[in-house]
Amino acid sequence: MKTHYSSILTFLIISLLTITSCKKEVKIKKPATPKDLLKENIIPKPVTLTATGSSFELNSNSEIHYQSDALKPIANYLSELLQPATGFKLPIKVMSSMPSTDHIYLSLSDSIQHKEGYLLTIKENGIDLKANKPAGLFYGIQTLRQLLPANIELKEKQNNTWLIASGTITDEPSYSYRGAMLDVARHFLGLETVKRYIDLLSFYKINTLHLHLSDDQGWRIEIKSWPNLTTHGGSTEVGGGEGGFFTQEQYKELVKYAQDRFITIVPEIDMPGHTNAALSSYPELNCNGKATKPYTGTRVGFSSFCTDKDITYKFIDDVIRELAEMTPGEYIHIGGDESDATPIKDYIKFINKVQKIVSSHGKKVLGWDEIAHATLEPNTIVQYWARDSTENKNAFNAVKQNAKILMSPATKAYLDMKYDKTTKIGLDWAGLTEVDVAYNWSLENHIEDISKENIIGVEAPLWTETVENIKDLEFLAFPRVIGIAEIGWTPTSQRNWEEYKVRLGKHKDRLDALHVNYYTSELVPWQSTVTDTVVSTPKEN
Ligand code: ACM
Repeated sequence: MKTHYSSILTFLIISLLTITSCKKEVKIKKPATPKDLLKENIIPKPVTLTATGSSFELNSNSEIHYQSDALKPIANYLSELLQPATGFKLPIKVMSSMPSTDHIYLSLSDSIQHKEGYLLTIKENGIDLKANKPAGLFYGIQTLRQLLPANIELKEKQNNTWLIASGTITDEPSYSYRGAMLDVARHFLGLETVKRYIDLLSFYKINTLHLHLSDDQGWRIEIKSWPNLTTHGGSTEVGGGEGGFFTQEQYKELVKYAQDRFITIVPEIDMPGHTNAALSSYPELNCNGKATKPYTGTRVGFSSFCTDKDITYKFIDDVIRELAEMTPGEYIHIGGDESDATPIKDYIKFINKVQKIVSSHGKKVLGWDEIAHATLEPNTIVQYWARDSTENKNAFNAVKQNAKILMSPATKAYLDMKYDKTTKIGLDWAGLTEVDVAYNWSLENHIEDISKENIIGVEAPLWTETVENIKDLEFLAFPRVIGIAEIGWTPTSQRNWEEYKVRLGKHKDRLDALHVNYYTSELVPWQSTVTDTVVSTPKEN
């Protein structure tokens, strides 16, 4: 018996000792320590990178210094960006010269020649970010963001260290116009959805968001002098939903939100076709004086403004005037596509007049490539959307008239095309567009005889016949729009799909941390960059 009691006692003592000494083990994934800048996965790929083999550690003593008051907003933006995941409330301080140690310094310098370029120098004892203009600082910050561990994007405080590989990056975009287009007319997508898209686009250095604000199925921008456009014309959408519209206050809020992220909004009023929402709101815009019925289907090419009536041009003048007053950017997009219900001679006369109206309000014209039938004003930009080379003649006409081309070939850049036959949303009239197809082309080699000096840049349109919400939008846009961002930024000679797909695959953690509903294409080797696993032993009690 005695032996029995003593062995029970021994067992209890050992168990107690084990319980108190063995701390609960929680596995926390720790991001890999960056040491080699050349192994980082920056998109768009920077123009030059030099690695120096060590790291800068961002910690709670780091500070953000900026050269002059004009840079305070961008210093603030950086501090706020870094706060949630690091838990550091990094102070921002104005300093006319680079601090000696441990800080991030933002300054402007004429030594950086490109208006959107930047020079990022990361040393063990500090980070120096220089640019010609604030836009370049913003892009340098996006690069810095991608050099930090991916969990920098999380909104909760993380426990890892924040190391950035040391070295130098000199960078500038190949093209000045790097855009996305969002159709908020077929399905209305509201303020928060558009803001979220702006946030994601700005992460990849896209600088323009073209909003398709009117179409047959809905009118989406308040025009105070023609109120039925929104009360009536804004109340429908594809499929019969309730639609919606931006008030002028909301639109201005959006413009400001985009500006703060160095994105210019280009508003589009599509005309003379794609106008049923307006024709159904005001009978006088129709040649027969009768309002059309609201339309919630997906056909195109059946509507037209009455190009002979003076009231049509009075209407357009009012709309463009109100829009121009809210638009700090230089362009107003006048659509001009698929005007199959407008005889060509009327179409040409109409586009010529509308260009003059836009100029009279101090803006330049952008239009789909059909507008090249008209006599183009100096500075009018023609947006190429042809699906094959038989449709290139509009672009040739534009170049003959010295207009610049914005490249949006439907077979490559249309984000609403399905990825493959199994894709549940999207269309396929321009073909299936897998992630490699959307990436594997270049602006200056796409149309024979149209070269870099004729091209202003690239834009990826997302038409929303099948897109009803942010999840649908993200699924079709990501990851293809990331590749379009790189096409606009990185020189063609420095891009190839085999290398890009690996880099893109390593953005998995970032896209996950940002909660993006992206398409996980099988062509991309999606890979977590989190490699180290550390065991953390939380404090007892
Ligand atoms: C367009 O896709 N109708 C420009």
